[in-house]
Amino acid sequence: MKVTVVGAGAVGASCAEYIAIKDFAAEVVLIDIKEGFAEGKAMDLMQTASLNGFDSKIVGTTGDYSKTAGSDVAVITSGIPRKPGMTREELISTNAGIVKSVAESLIEHSPNVIIIVVSNPMDTMAYLAHKATGLPKNRIIGMGGALDSARFKYRLAEQLGCPQSDVDGMVIGGHSDTGMIPLTRLATRNSVPVSEFLSEEQLTYVKEETKVGGATLTKLLGTSAWYAPGAAVSAMVQAIAQDSQKMFPCSCLLDGEYGLSDISLGVPAIIGANGIEKIVEIDLNDAEKENLQTSADAVRKVNGLL
Ligand code: 2OP
Repeated sequence: MKVTVVGAGAVGASCAEYIAIKDFAAEVVLIDIKEGFAEGKAMDLMQTASLNGFDSKIVGTTGDYSKTAGSDVAVITSGIPRKPGMTREELISTNAGIVKSVAESLIEHSPNVIIIVVSNPMDTMAYLAHKATGLPKNRIIGMGGALDSARFKYRLAEQLGCPQSDVDGMVIGGHSDTGMIPLTRLATRNSVPVSEFLSEEQLTYVKEETKVGGATLTKLLGTSAWYAPGAAVSAMVQAIAQDSQKMFPCSCLLDGEYGLSDISLGVPAIIGANGIEKIVEIDLNDAEKENLQTSADAVRKVNGLL
């Protein structure tokens, strides 16, 4: 399994590190435009191999896409991250051009690649990648829901006072401070609905904190988060590499599912060797359906800026 990670910044390097440590990919290529940056990160990461016990080979390159040739999976993290007070949508003018050219370079050297888009505004960047590459829709996936769901579980466990391993929950909709939909109705603590343990007020707190989870960290860090985004996308790469048939909420190009078409939006999907194996249509209540439609309308507005 060969994986390319485009962008050797904090998210890309974290993703490469987690992939290496999980040791499911023979080769990880880290590529960046900044002279020597990807080479340096790759070498530093390779010097952890004997300490962290992995055999994956991480190589870095400055802009030479021939080194990415034959990649099975490529993760696009390139572009600028947001600063405190910014929305993800404000990044579109800079990041759209970068994501388009990166996607085109990737498929030129790896025609069978599965692309996972992380760059923000992610749903729109995933949509752009579909349009720019013409790849089959199962081979372009946007990573947002896996990260948002991890933040959702973190907040639920915090309120429940329990280990995160006891919690399950999913966030669907757009990967944006206002558009994401933490499905509190379906969340569970060891198969028991969380509403058995938490008040409406606590559930509202969890929902709202989840939605601004990225912005909260950007305020604390002065830039976007990287550990959880890197971990979320590496989990998706692993599901492809191992043909896990694992379900993630992720940004998929919809063609009638949930009553939506011609939009990339966060919905539950089974991820395996073919990328998106199947989009899962779960029963939503009226409020959730309305929230999903509102979220889709907001993403379409941003798509209109492309
Ligand atoms: C986040 O929410 C970078 O969008 C990513 O942290």
